[in-house]
Amino acid sequence: MSAIINDIEIIKAESSNITAVDFDNLTFGSVFSDHMLVCDYKDGKWHKPMIMPYQPVTLDPSAKIFHYGQSVFEGMKAYKDAEDNVWLFRPEQNCKRLNISSHRLAIPELPEAYFMEGLKALLQLDKDWIPTKAGSSLYIRPFIFASGNGFHASPADAYKFIICTAPSGAYFSGDVKVLIEETYSRSANGGVGFAKAGGNYAGQFYPTQLAKAKGYQQVIWTDDNNHEYIEEAGAMNIFIRINDTLITGPTSDRILDGITRKSIIELAEAENIPVEVRKITVTEVVDAAKNGTLKEMFGAGTAAVISPISGFGYKGTDYDLPKNDDTYANYLKKRITDIQTNKGEDPFGWRVKV
Ligand code: PLP
Ligand code: COI
Repeated sequence: MSAIINDIEIIKAESSNITAVDFDNLTFGSVFSDHMLVCDYKDGKWHKPMIMPYQPVTLDPSAKIFHYGQSVFEGMKAYKDAEDNVWLFRPEQNCKRLNISSHRLAIPELPEAYFMEGLKALLQLDKDWIPTKAGSSLYIRPFIFASGNGFHASPADAYKFIICTAPSGAYFSGDVKVLIEETYSRSANGGVGFAKAGGNYAGQFYPTQLAKAKGYQQVIWTDDNNHEYIEEAGAMNIFIRINDTLITGPTSDRILDGITRKSIIELAEAENIPVEVRKITVTEVVDAAKNGTLKEMFGAGTAAVISPISGFGYKGTDYDLPKNDDTYANYLKKRITDIQTNKGEDPFGWRVKV
């Protein structure tokens, strides 16, 4: 059956898979909604997107994504409130960042309307897939990859932009203990660290496996020069509270400019929480842990939301963070999720109705 939403052609799935999903026990990003949006770049331009049943993508073995890794992605969430309204959180920021990432990987810029209108049409169609249980949401994965063929090491002449969605629960299942990295680097000056490029994640897997084998869930990346400064974690930006001040490192061409991070900074400033955006050394954090002024560390990201860190490892020593419910992490998490789910005031105008 075919239909049109927001001027976008839709081929509907013949039957829905929704009854097979246990919405009370969702993991992160492992079951997928009935439909996906697909948009092709060929003959020098992006063509109008289409919505179709969720299905495999067929590519030639010489497609450049397989050889040269030209791929970028985004992470977003949709929420449903008690009145069945569907909400997105600062979606224009994701669209903008997707194009910033694409630009760095020599992928042609995607028209904003294809992203926004396409996403809204997809969400209207798969609205029933948006979980309502606290802590769950519909995780949205927009991505672009080089579908054009050839072994020549140069940008492809064809790309696919796809959006798929996955009803999801929490990204981390338990305590988040992190390892401050002393050897490997995620990114370098002049590199692609600021882009949400698939290869940035591939490069993290091996060092993260080593950290996991030692009992840590994520690596905290440090600068590639001397491993002296705290940068970010594998899938989230990092905040550190020393006494009552919240500190996060400045973004750079090595660090992803997280939407959750920038929202937390604005929220903290509006709520008179002292917040500093400045470089922070590993030594400062270790000293604060030793003298008792290190009160909290937490990660911030779309998937991770705000995830308190229970402790960190550095140079063979483990440091525990204080256990306390009265934290900036808990306070800010409630404020931000209330805005996202339409349970609280949104003085910033971040919430967007679908
Ligand atoms: N840093 C990295 C490496 C990430 O993968 C993410 C997740 O998107 C973030 C930070 C947080 O960014 P955002 O808050 O925009 O999701
Ligand atoms: C997100 O938070 O949306 C991300 O993209 C992180 C991802 C690695 C799960």
